Amino acid sequence: MGFELKLSAHVILGIESSCDDTAAAIVSYEKGNSKILSSVVVNQNTLHEKYGGVVPEIAARAHAERVDTVVKEALVGAKLSLLDINLIGVTAGPGLIGGVVAGVMCAKGLAYGANLPLVGVNHLAGHALTPRLIGNLEYPYLILLASGGHCQFVIVESANKFSRLGGTIDDAPGEAFDKTARLLGLEQPGGPSIEREAINGDFKRFDFPRPLLNRDDCDMSFSGLKTAVSRSLEDLDKQQGGLYERDVKDFCAGFQAAISDVLVGKSKRAIIEARKRSSALKTFAIVGGVAANEKIRQNLSSVCSDLEIDFMAPPLELCTDNAAMIAYAAGELYDLGQEDDYSLSPRSRWPLDEKKPPMLGGGKRGAKA
Ligand code: KG4
Ligand code: ZN
Repeated sequence: MGFELKLSAHVILGIESSCDDTAAAIVSYEKGNSKILSSVVVNQNTLHEKYGGVVPEIAARAHAERVDTVVKEALVGAKLSLLDINLIGVTAGPGLIGGVVAGVMCAKGLAYGANLPLVGVNHLAGHALTPRLIGNLEYPYLILLASGGHCQFVIVESANKFSRLGGTIDDAPGEAFDKTARLLGLEQPGGPSIEREAINGDFKRFDFPRPLLNRDDCDMSFSGLKTAVSRSLEDLDKQQGGLYERDVKDFCAGFQAAISDVLVGKSKRAIIEARKRSSALKTFAIVGGVAANEKIRQNLSSVCSDLEIDFMAPPLELCTDNAAMIAYAAGELYDLGQEDDYSLSPRSRWPLDEKKPPMLGGGKRGAKA
């Protein structure tokens, strides 16, 4: 092996297949000093393109076909073989069930064949623990987890203890980005497409709603935004008989500003609430696919400096789905004593904070966790 393995360190293979990215990664896990040795993510954008969104059956089949090759690529990338691995971590939910089944079956087969311990990981915990993978952040800390299927404020107390302060009552922000991009005829996933167009747009031209912003809690709503964009589009279409490039850019800028204002306003409330609950809490992090948005990162960062709390946002490739976060989370969970057997069951729903009642709504991943 290319590095020295210390006691209490593990070389972990992580597998992720809960939505439309088939991913595998190798992480050298050691408390406070973990390293990503390789990370392979194969997206399915071209397979779903013509349907305008992720088709669960197509996703499941693609995961099943690709997952073993992706694992092999991750091993080759880390210059390791399966014999060098000490632990396998796999996303066991929440997500599109066919995809999760493909990853879990592969992980079980490898764990059985190579006689390795197996840890089933909550995909959301993978996102939630990413700040510790990259920054060795101490517990507790506050996260805004904003992705294609989820949006919630959570105090992360340990690798298996999470307190939800609030979340979306309908769509997730990533889902709103994707739906709006579809309305505007832009490429999927919608987030990066809208962000690119928004750069040269006038965010003041269209005044989109900021739902629930004035309500004194940490809950959010994004479904009305898509309707507002759709109505403005129809109006403009009637007036001028189509859309100019300028219009698309202005729509994108206005939409992105509305999402950002909601996330920023609610983050302020969540930070205040989290500090009331824990004076030890020093950091606010944004995680999940929407955390890749530069404008949203900047705006959240400046809120944090106003409120004098540290801000953290993972590098872009660790915001969107990947298996390094799953491998890392498996390491922490294994250290806490979790080891799953071959009865490990994929779960389509799996809230981080199981004590709280489920949020309303059902997005591309089904009911919100
Ligand atoms: O975390 P993720 O990779 O998958 C889920 O767990 O859902 O998040 C994917 C979501 C997509 O909806 C995508 O449009 C959004 O994250 N996203 C972005 C950006 N990059 C990805 N949203 C806004 N701006 C971005 N740059
Ligand atoms: Zn995700």
